[in-house]
Amino acid sequence: MAQLRENWGTRFGFIMATAGSAVGLGNIWKFPYMAGEEGGGAFLMIYLGFILLFGLALMLAELLIGRTTQRNPVGAFRHLAGGAWPLVGMLGIVTAFVVLSYYIVVAGWTLAYIALSAEGASHSSDGAVVKQVFEDFVGDPVAPLACAALFMTLVAAVVAGGIGSGIERTSKLFMPVLFLLLLILVVRAVTLPGAGEGIAFYLKPDWSKVGADTFVGAIGQAFFSLSLGLGALITYGSYMRRHDNLAADAGMIAGLDTMVAVLAGLVILPAVFAAGVAPDQGAGLTFITLPTVFAQMPAGQLFATLFFVLLAIAALTSAVSLLEVVVTYLKDEHDMTRVRATVAAASITFLLGIPSSLSMGLWSGFTINGQDLLTFADQFATTVLMPGGAFFTAIFVGWVLGPRAVAALTLDGTHRVPGTGLWLFLLRFVCPLGILWIALSGLGVV
Ligand code: PHE
Repeated sequence: MAQLRENWGTRFGFIMATAGSAVGLGNIWKFPYMAGEEGGGAFLMIYLGFILLFGLALMLAELLIGRTTQRNPVGAFRHLAGGAWPLVGMLGIVTAFVVLSYYIVVAGWTLAYIALSAEGASHSSDGAVVKQVFEDFVGDPVAPLACAALFMTLVAAVVAGGIGSGIERTSKLFMPVLFLLLLILVVRAVTLPGAGEGIAFYLKPDWSKVGADTFVGAIGQAFFSLSLGLGALITYGSYMRRHDNLAADAGMIAGLDTMVAVLAGLVILPAVFAAGVAPDQGAGLTFITLPTVFAQMPAGQLFATLFFVLLAIAALTSAVSLLEVVVTYLKDEHDMTRVRATVAAASITFLLGIPSSLSMGLWSGFTINGQDLLTFADQFATTVLMPGGAFFTAIFVGWVLGPRAVAALTLDGTHRVPGTGLWLFLLRFVCPLGILWIALSGLGVV
């Protein structure tokens, strides 16, 4: 702890890095298919409600813990309160490991799909052919693992470079590219003949599809998408300078994240409708449905390749933040150098990811609750671990810190931050009760 802590170089850099964490597979792979399954516009409205009710307040809470303590999640809780609270930080570190282990598997698929799309292997308007390409690829015991290893190596290379010259520099370069690619794809999708139906489906609420599951799904998605509940934002916040303005930045990051999710839906659903494919294909939507859609549009092979580049970039900057949670922890608490911590954490993560990868092929017979290991790990992390972390973080900042949190946020009243009373109210009551209610209804108790 004695050595000088690294810092973000500029506010723009911090915002790009943190938006890079938030914008990921969650926005582009998961959000559109969830919206497709759970009532289109209805899901969108519920999701937006959760971002406003829970997401923003929690995002601010996590960034504040980091900025105030300048420590990793475990050290931060210990510094602020001690007792059993550092366990919440520890839960975050474990959750980051779990999420990263399957995240690199899906991210590895996106790398493979850049190549498969560019060379045209997955370029067919025959759904059965494309499905076979996907199943052959993910079912292979070696190729997907090699892709995951490659992806993990790229992530480790960025993290080993440090906060400024690794993470910040990469994000400042890649995030603008991501926005540009996304805009190109939106224009392509909404101008396809027949896209109107998809736009209507996406924006018009279908409340008949909404049930308890929709709410559980939407809140899990909101946490996942904003990178909440596992200390990623505590970690990124810990590299801010103490006087940086938090509230405006949090609003901007949440806004960018939501915009990308909404725009990704606007790429995928209109394109899917224009091609006459059903939108409720679940997790396979991106890898199975979309290639058939691209195959039917002019210059589709090019747009398909661009799409998977977009997805890989989004996944990279998110995975970087997950690995950084573990690396910052090892660095702060166990006195490891950044490079050693990165190599150790990346290697262990890769090993942890092997079962998820094999669960698509060799080990597909092994299920928990009827789900393959990858789906189970994702489900467990997004509906149990992350909301759990968020629950305790809300209680901690709302009740344990309370007025101290407001003082820290406003730098003892020297910064004007509007709505601090509302913020505390959301953290004290709305977030914990909301999460509890969702968890109980997910378990079928209420
Ligand atoms: N927010 C990222 C996404 O949407 C995933 C993530 C979760 C990253 C938690 C960091 C921490 O894909």
